[in-house]
Amino acid sequence: MKKKTLTCLGALALCVITMRGFGQTGTLNISGDSKTTISKHIYGQFAEHLGHGIYGGFWVDKSLPVKKQDRIRLDVVEALKKIKIPNLRWPGGCFADEYHWRDGIGPAAQRPRMVNTNWGGVTEDNSFGTHEFLELCSLLKCEPYVAGNVGSGTVDEMSKWIEYLNSNSTSTVVKERVKNGHPEPYKVSFWGVGNESWGCGGNMTPQFYADQFKRYASFAKDYPGAKLKKIASGPNADDYNWTEVCMKNIPAHMMYGLSLHYYTIPTGSWGKKGSATAFTEGEYFNTMVNCLKMEELVTKHSAIMDKYDPEKHVALVVDEWGVWTDPEPGTNPGFLYQQNSLRDALIAATTLNIFNNHSDRVKMAALAQTINVLQSLILTDKEKMVLTPTYYIFDMYKVHQDAKYLPIKLDAPDYEVDGKKIPAVNASASQDAAGKVHISLVNLDIHKPITITTGFSDIKWTNVSGQILTSANVTNINTFQDPDKIHLSNFTGAKKDGDKLVVTLPAKSVVTLELN
Ligand code: AHR
Repeated sequence: MKKKTLTCLGALALCVITMRGFGQTGTLNISGDSKTTISKHIYGQFAEHLGHGIYGGFWVDKSLPVKKQDRIRLDVVEALKKIKIPNLRWPGGCFADEYHWRDGIGPAAQRPRMVNTNWGGVTEDNSFGTHEFLELCSLLKCEPYVAGNVGSGTVDEMSKWIEYLNSNSTSTVVKERVKNGHPEPYKVSFWGVGNESWGCGGNMTPQFYADQFKRYASFAKDYPGAKLKKIASGPNADDYNWTEVCMKNIPAHMMYGLSLHYYTIPTGSWGKKGSATAFTEGEYFNTMVNCLKMEELVTKHSAIMDKYDPEKHVALVVDEWGVWTDPEPGTNPGFLYQQNSLRDALIAATTLNIFNNHSDRVKMAALAQTINVLQSLILTDKEKMVLTPTYYIFDMYKVHQDAKYLPIKLDAPDYEVDGKKIPAVNASASQDAAGKVHISLVNLDIHKPITITTGFSDIKWTNVSGQILTSANVTNINTFQDPDKIHLSNFTGAKKDGDKLVVTLPAKSVVTLELN
């Protein structure tokens, strides 16, 4: 009897040691039973006329000693092609509602100059306009997503821009496009009807915007081979009333999607947002709390959309997301230039897992903002270029593009800091056309490894391989001096155990596994 009690106590002690010292455990179940596709457009990008996103990012000075086509930087293009960016949203952002497309066509020297009132008050010379943007998209082999001006533009102006882009008639506006060097219609399909119409795009009420949307959309015409996918300016974060009013008043057949904008702000305050590179564990934890809010937002907005559109014709388009920190000290605060750490990679991976898991409704998204602005994939300094930790997440996750979504059930421990808890692990899974299963797992806990045992239904596999992104500290970054500090590595911590997959996720890591 005594011996039995001791054995029990021993087992308990071992269990406690295992939980505290040697990492924790969880389970994951993945089902092959699904009809949903993870749209590649979830992996989209956003580039605004803001700071050094376009000028000094994509579009550089003629004298810069890098390979270029016209003034488009080709090392940047090659890096983005590698991760298969599916779409690029342009010209804004807030800039879109003060942009007049005619200023950006014709001989560059004759284009008017304007002040970029939203972003630093700098002079915009309009050297990057419609043709340059579409040349960039063609080099990137991605779809253009143009945001039209509702705030300070007119219905006729938007209507003519679409005709200029997509029509093959002999109208005067089309002849102008031909004269400007593009005889063939561009066939742009993704079309934003305004941006943040609740704020910088016109400070409208949702009812007023819904009426404006219908008016603008009525004159945004389809041309041969270019059926427009019109995206309504949707809610700011948790403004559920905006979604309700738009869904109630705009017929589903008039809109391809409703946008949602939500930024992860480390402190949760639009004042002092928090540093991109110097933060405590407590600040890291709060940032992750704010990042995980995306799950609640997508769930609640989707539930409202389900009421009016149960067949899910209208996409939720999260076309601005990412971490927004204080700008790097010494930079123009209006340029929103911030560094990018391992923390930001964990944010990107977690957010993309949320989108994958909601891919029945979330069919498009755009990270803000590709190069040199907010949560960037790439940072540049004159001819130097560095890939950020976030870039590597998009590289790892490209396997999910247009793959079959696999439903998951995850049961994993919490990550606890100062008595507050969040789920330590998040995941998503898909199966590609060749039958390969890809599983992406994130461990947000910065101290403890976590072992996840995965079971499968309706999925057969024999081999596992993988890639991992991690680093010694969540504050680690890639710099122009040390561009390769954080990079992808082969992952060997996953094993087949009978028909189960056992994977040990190191602390603060992102792992993508391939099963075939
Ligand atoms: O991405 C920066 C800005 O954030 C965009 O211009 C605007 O749409 C949003 O408020």
